[in-house]
Amino acid sequence: MENTHDMKAFVIPQPGAHTVELTEVPVPKIDDDELLVRVQAMGVGIHDSYFLPSDAKYPYPIGIEAAGVIEKIGSRVVGHQPGNRVVFVSSMQPKGGTWADYAAVKAASLIMPIPTGLGFIEAAAIPVAGNTALKALRALADVPTGGSLFIAGGSGAIGTFAIQLARKRGWRIAASASEVNHDYMLSLGAHKAVDYHDPQWRKQVLQWMPGGVDAVMAVQPGTSAESLPVVKDGGSLISVSGDALVAERGVRMMGIPYEVNVMDELMQLMKQIAAGEMHLGLEQVYPFDDALAALAKVQTRRARGKLVLQRE
Ligand SMILES: NC(=O)c1ccc[n+]([C@@H]2O[C@H](COP(=O)([O-])OP(=O)(O)OC[C@H]3O[C@@H](n4cnc5c(N)ncnc54)[C@H](OP(=O)(O)O)[C@@H]3O)[C@@H](O)[C@H]2O)c1
Repeated sequence: MENTHDMKAFVIPQPGAHTVELTEVPVPKIDDDELLVRVQAMGVGIHDSYFLPSDAKYPYPIGIEAAGVIEKIGSRVVGHQPGNRVVFVSSMQPKGGTWADYAAVKAASLIMPIPTGLGFIEAAAIPVAGNTALKALRALADVPTGGSLFIAGGSGAIGTFAIQLARKRGWRIAASASEVNHDYMLSLGAHKAVDYHDPQWRKQVLQWMPGGVDAVMAVQPGTSAESLPVVKDGGSLISVSGDALVAERGVRMMGIPYEVNVMDELMQLMKQIAAGEMHLGLEQVYPFDDALAALAKVQTRRARGKLVLQRE
């Protein structure tokens, strides 16, 4: 295929614009160290419309993660072949992101083969949330088997993975969401569910785990400070959303360790989902053309699990 064709893409039309539009733009041309992927399904996340590189080329296709088929590879790309099914995370790339018919992806990005038995839709729902949950749990590696974890935001994309992964480590888990999502979190393996709208929720966690939990994973913005009282003295708290943290009582405060490589664990997670050993929370699959509805939904921060876009 010659890259002179146009493709459909959801774009930010010009620098500084706050709108996302469906339009036609040229298929990106790849450099020697890039792959061109024909996108089949895209994950939807809160960052999709505002993670923009300073050297972005406009109109700029948005989107961070996707699954598809390799169309062609640059001359210096090894380990990938046209025709292979891949899932990838590609953010802050000047040529644009994943909400398009094709994406140019750096070979050095997080790009992995899709395991047998996993479809494009399922694969596209995994990399950002799975990567984040795995890195957060790696940072909490000193929590012992049988230790306890409170997840502030247990019913979203990251929480859905975090509850199940923590359970596999043999931890006791409490998690917060609205009451409507409590059965969901308990079905994933949480031992205790609390409603963050209830002023008594911290008391309920401390009644469940007297003295406090070993660790907190604060997923939603602002939940670090409000969750700090449920951590035991000398415990750990990791903020997934980059909350500003003030240490107290010897609690170890952390952010996501971006430098940690969890590719092997992410592949394992995909295989477990393909084998039906882990649950993939997919609230809704939207046709590609309805992407703006999916973006609006995720921005409410009320989605259960993940939202995915599907190309026809
Ligand atoms: N550091 C990283 O690498 C990284 C990567 C990806 C995302 N993030 C951050 O992670 C956050 C998104 O996580 P996500 O994708 O899991 O979110 P999400 O899927 O949008 O989470 C939505 C869920 O969170 C629940 N929720 C909303 N507000 C809550 C609160 N105050 N307390 C407890 N639960 C709450 C909602 O439950 P109810 O409807 O029941 O209220 C809903 O089910 C974003 O802030 C983003 O910046 C960080």
